[in-house]
Order: sequence, then structure tokens, then C-alpha cells
Amino acid sequence: MIAPPDDIDRIMSVMERAFSAEFGEAWNRRQVSDAFTISNCRYGLIAPDGAAHIAETTDIAGFFMSRAILDEEELLLFAIAPEYRRRGLGHLLLSRFLESAKATGMARVFLEMRHGNPAAFLYAAHGFREIGRRPSYYRTPGGGRIDAISQELIFQD
Ligand SMILES: CC(C)(COP(=O)(O)OP(=O)(O)OC[C@H]1O[C@@H](n2cnc3c(N)ncnc32)[C@H](O)[C@@H]1OP(=O)(O)O)[C@@H](O)C(=O)NCCC(=O)NCCS
Repeated sequence: MIAPPDDIDRIMSVMERAFSAEFGEAWNRRQVSDAFTISNCRYGLIAPDGAAHIAETTDIAGFFMSRAILDEEELLLFAIAPEYRRRGLGHLLLSRFLESAKATGMARVFLEMRHGNPAAFLYAAHGFREIGRRPSYYRTPGGGRIDAISQELIFQD
């Protein structure tokens, strides 16, 4: 999927605010644009009012990026800007991602997250379950180590 430069700008504006610098989870612009040169990488945006179709002039509240391989799709990045959190936009965007993955024939979606990320509550509410753990995968500037948790959701017919 090709992302127009304006959409990459919008994704980066949320990216820069949404992820804590402490864990190094945010991608830079080059990583984002390179991902979109891969044809099976896609994204979705959400407006502050929850709309999925966004006028060119409208700021976004959040985005997802994902990559499909055969009938499995990895949720690479998922974020809502800090000022729009705890209003249900994360639930709405995740629902849209899962519906579109299922509609395009995916059998399974998966992701990796930092242990202790509150996003775990959101993923659990949508049926994800933990399937693996990479011990001490994330390093913090203070020398701490945090496990990476792999989660999956298998679509039932
Ligand atoms: C995770 C994130 C996308 C949630 O977005 P959101 O719009 O606030 O999500 P919602 O309002 O739909 O809330 C979804 C659920 O997530 C959980 N949740 C979200 N933030 C939480 C927090 N700070 N503490 C505890 N639970 C939290 C709750 O269960 C919440 O449901 P509830 O409000 O009904 O209790 C957002 O916090 C974010 O962008 N975080 C930084 C980026 C990130 O870590 N992304 C995930 C990478 S794996």
C-alpha cells in the first residue's frame, strides 16, 4: 500500500507524541516510508471524532500500521495521541483493523508489545492471548530490562 506524504506526516505527528522515548518503540519517518514500499504493508487512520475517512486538512487522533504475510497479519504499530486517549478511540481503531484483516482473509493476527504496557488491557478485550515472551528484549536508558510479549488472535468462523 502506498501512503501519500501527507498521511506519513500525520502518522509521524502522532508517532512523535504517542510513544515514550524511554523504550525506543517509535519508528522514524524513514522506517515508516520504507515500510510502505512493501506492498503488503497497510495503515489506517482515525480522526478525533472517530471517523475513518479523513479530509486532507484534518488532524488525526491515531493510526495503525500492519503487514500481511500469506494469511497472517502483524500489527506493527498502534497508537492514539495522548490528548485523545481513554475515549474509546483505541477500541474503535482496533475493531476496524481486526474487521478489515478478517475481511481480507486473514486467519490470524499477531503483535509484540512491551510487558506492562496498558495496551495489554485493550488487546485482551479484543480476544488476544499471550503466546510467547522474549526476556529482557527492551532496554531502558536507566539500564532496566523489560520482556517483549507476543500476542495473537485467531479468527473463528
Ligand atoms: C494503547 C492505546 C492505543 C490506547 O488508546 P485509547 O484510545 O486510550 O484506548 P481506549 O480509550 O479505547 O481504551 C482501551 C482500553 O485500554 C485500556 N487502557 C488504555 N490506557 C490505559 C491506561 N493508561 N491504564 C490502564 N488501562 C488502559 C483500558 O482497558 C481501556 O478500556 P476502558 O477505558 O474501557 O477501561 C494508547 O494508550 C497509546 O497510544 N499508547 C501508546 C502507544 C502504545 O503503547 N501502543 C501499543 C503498542 S503495542
